[in-house]
Amino acid sequence: MAPEAKVTAATLRARKGTGERIAVLTAYDVVFARLCDGAGIDVVLVGDSLGMVIQGERSTLAVTLDEMVYHSRIVARGITRAHLVADMPFMSYQASIEDGMRSAGRLMKEGNAEAVKLEGGVEVAELCRRLVRAGIPVMGHVGLTPQSIHQLGGFKVQGRTDAQRAQILDDARALSDAGAYAIVLEAIPHALAGEITRAVPALTIGIGAGADCDGQVMVMHDLLGLQPSWKPRFVRRYAEMGKAAGEAFAAYAADVRAGKFPAAEETYE
Ligand code: KIV
Repeated sequence: MAPEAKVTAATLRARKGTGERIAVLTAYDVVFARLCDGAGIDVVLVGDSLGMVIQGERSTLAVTLDEMVYHSRIVARGITRAHLVADMPFMSYQASIEDGMRSAGRLMKEGNAEAVKLEGGVEVAELCRRLVRAGIPVMGHVGLTPQSIHQLGGFKVQGRTDAQRAQILDDARALSDAGAYAIVLEAIPHALAGEITRAVPALTIGIGAGADCDGQVMVMHDLLGLQPSWKPRFVRRYAEMGKAAGEAFAAYAADVRAGKFPAAEETYE
């Protein structure tokens, strides 16, 4: 059987308007990256959500560029077909265009990313334009932008007032005009997500933004149910791996304590 074609920013962009939706999932290590790739996930995102789901922080703010480079590089080793996007972490691009160019360069050169994602709209449009001109595909991210939670007052749905709606639409237009091939729409009303999807040539990738986007993204730990106590409205669990892992660990501990592990067939002669 011929290997499936490599997914790229260009092949993704060509799907705009075709109705062929795009499945995006986060991954942070090689094992899960391989599973995503083999399962036909289109885009693997090394999200700075790793600050929360891997590092146990309350936000994404503490994640460093070195950590993103490290995780991107190990995820890249598990991918042959999917498109690999790495997040630009907080303060790796906000201080200057030059910072942003160099940070993106590290994610591509050392992290083997095939595109970078950055948060913000009008204020990062010039950086987006420069990155695209330098040959770096850019995925934008508007609506609830977790790197700005202190400004936003927490992880709250955005775009519920007329002023916010207009701003988010402007932000998406600015990114698309600057050459972003895709834009994550996070935690906004579905009608606004639909309006943006129809208004911009860039692909829209929703998370908590309803079904009228060109694709959807989920954090892997949410999809797999790895954090049983965390179940916001926008999450659909496709497995209960947190529960399954807890049960497996308890069964192993019980077997060790009872002298039932290892058995003869698990022992060398
Ligand atoms: O960091 C991340 O995983 C993200 C997705 C939730 C879009 O930005």
